[in-house]
Amino acid sequence: MKHNNDTKLMTLLAAALLSACGGESDSTTTDTTLDQQVRALADSQGLTGDPSQGRALPSIESPQAQLGMQLFFSKGLSGTLDTACVSCHHPFLGGGDDLPLSVGVEADLPDLLGPGRLHSSAGHHFDGGPTVPRNAPSTFNIAFYDDVLFHDGRVESLDKTPGLSGAGGGIRTPDSPFGVADPTAGGNLATAQARFPVTSKEEMRGFEFEADGDNTSVRDHLASRLRGEVVALSGNTWLEAFRTGLEQPAASAETLITYDNVAAALASYQNSQVLVDNPWRAFLAGDDDAIGSDAKQGALLFFTEVADGGAGCSSCHQGDFFTDEQFHVVAMPQIGRGKGDGVDGTDDFGRFRETGNPDDRYAFRTPHLLNVADTGPWGHAGGYGSLEAVVRHHLNPRQAIARYDTSQLDPSIQVSNLQANTGRALDHLDALLAAGKSKLVAAALDDDQVQQLVAFLNALTDPCVTTPSCMAQWIPDDALLDPDSLRLHAEFQ
Ligand code: HEC
Ligand code: HEC
Repeated sequence: MKHNNDTKLMTLLAAALLSACGGESDSTTTDTTLDQQVRALADSQGLTGDPSQGRALPSIESPQAQLGMQLFFSKGLSGTLDTACVSCHHPFLGGGDDLPLSVGVEADLPDLLGPGRLHSSAGHHFDGGPTVPRNAPSTFNIAFYDDVLFHDGRVESLDKTPGLSGAGGGIRTPDSPFGVADPTAGGNLATAQARFPVTSKEEMRGFEFEADGDNTSVRDHLASRLRGEVVALSGNTWLEAFRTGLEQPAASAETLITYDNVAAALASYQNSQVLVDNPWRAFLAGDDDAIGSDAKQGALLFFTEVADGGAGCSSCHQGDFFTDEQFHVVAMPQIGRGKGDGVDGTDDFGRFRETGNPDDRYAFRTPHLLNVADTGPWGHAGGYGSLEAVVRHHLNPRQAIARYDTSQLDPSIQVSNLQANTGRALDHLDALLAAGKSKLVAAALDDDQVQQLVAFLNALTDPCVTTPSCMAQWIPDDALLDPDSLRLHAEFQ
């Protein structure tokens, strides 16, 4: 492995230089050296800072993405007419919902997104807390996943060709057996994924809609609703929206308004959310001042193996998209209702649920880290509210869980089994480490180094993400037809 040797050399060089220069040296010289070290290390791992290179991605201005935006914001896609995709994936909330665990149908205030979004304790099926068992990932940059979507990868490209996001071969979904292509999955991972939120009772379907039906009957019912065959929507102008979006001005509702076309348009909208123009990329492109020296030190730690004095992060968060798209046990806090696993159903076995492979128990997909400072809370169940806590967890999971303070969570979130469930994940992690099957090598970092890693993570945010006027292109304005008057106009606490 030539690259590894280069990396090792650079790191040793870096360490030697840093300790030799110390604090007394001329700061310009030190910075120049640091810049060179970081760039050489990045080079040795083939990084450019830009994961979008060589990909054909839709523009938000394209008619199909505009149709996708109309659909993404419409509560008409939920069985209960009160929840839209955007309820949990808002452009102003980092493409997520800013909650540890999502709150879907029958929220007290359906248009209130983010903190404060709760279920009525009086409502049926609910006891107040979030009913969705996992954290909503950001929709930003999902176009760069080539292998899997979801925390457990249950939407999976079967050929995993780099750069194609599942377009190369078949895609497995929850509608098909493990390892088998779903013939209805559509052309890419995002299209395949968009078939499922509407079928989830907690997210969008509700508990009465097509109560005896399967996933297909839910989607068929929604499509016929948009076509106007089932009268649920007032002033329905979806046909006009689909004709414009799919650029077929004379086609019929039967041809245009199908769930396949709904999913493809939703994917187009999400795949247009390319937000990769961050300071780290600018630094790699040559702008020395794009990131501070603490972030540069953080980068050295991030991309250097533990054995060579680094933090070893890039052994899993690798490449310009910061993920190997593999599944690892890191034992982040298991809070909330769980996925029905374990002794009392409050556990979440992660990838094991799909593969049945004992090693995969408690394993979750390595998430990408672009814009990560703006996509918290973090972890598959959203247990961590600060990046520092997430970093410290990786360095010593058992200690982090032992010290985990549940008072940071909304009291509506179930935590009684947190220690027991996460304890089993920690034991499994230890077993994998003992068997040489884990890449989570403990690194002993001091407080400054932890802050440096956090500074590096902060350098991965595209300024557009935190600038409402920039994100506005992904939010429908009044000029864009609201085909069912059920557009979600978000309120924030
Ligand atoms: C009630 C909240 C909620 C709603 C509504 C919702 N989602 Fe999600 N979304 C989630 C959660 C939670 C996950 C993670 C689930 C998992 O991994 O098991 C997720 C996962 C995803 C992912 C996978 C991202 C990744 O990194 O793998 C995409 C894409 C996505 N949702 C798009 C959509 C679309 C499109 C809609 C509307 C059709 C939608 N979501 C509606 C909560 C929601
Ligand atoms: C063994 C592989 C592995 C290594 C090494 C690793 N991570 Fe992770 N990381 C993961 C996995 C898997 C998750 C998701 C865990 C979950 O959802 O429960 C994760 C989650 C995260 C998150 C939260 C992202 C989110 O969207 O929720 C951050 C931030 C993060 N890692 C940063 C780091 C840093 C910094 C390092 C180095 C100190 C590091 N990781 C090392 C596998 C790894």
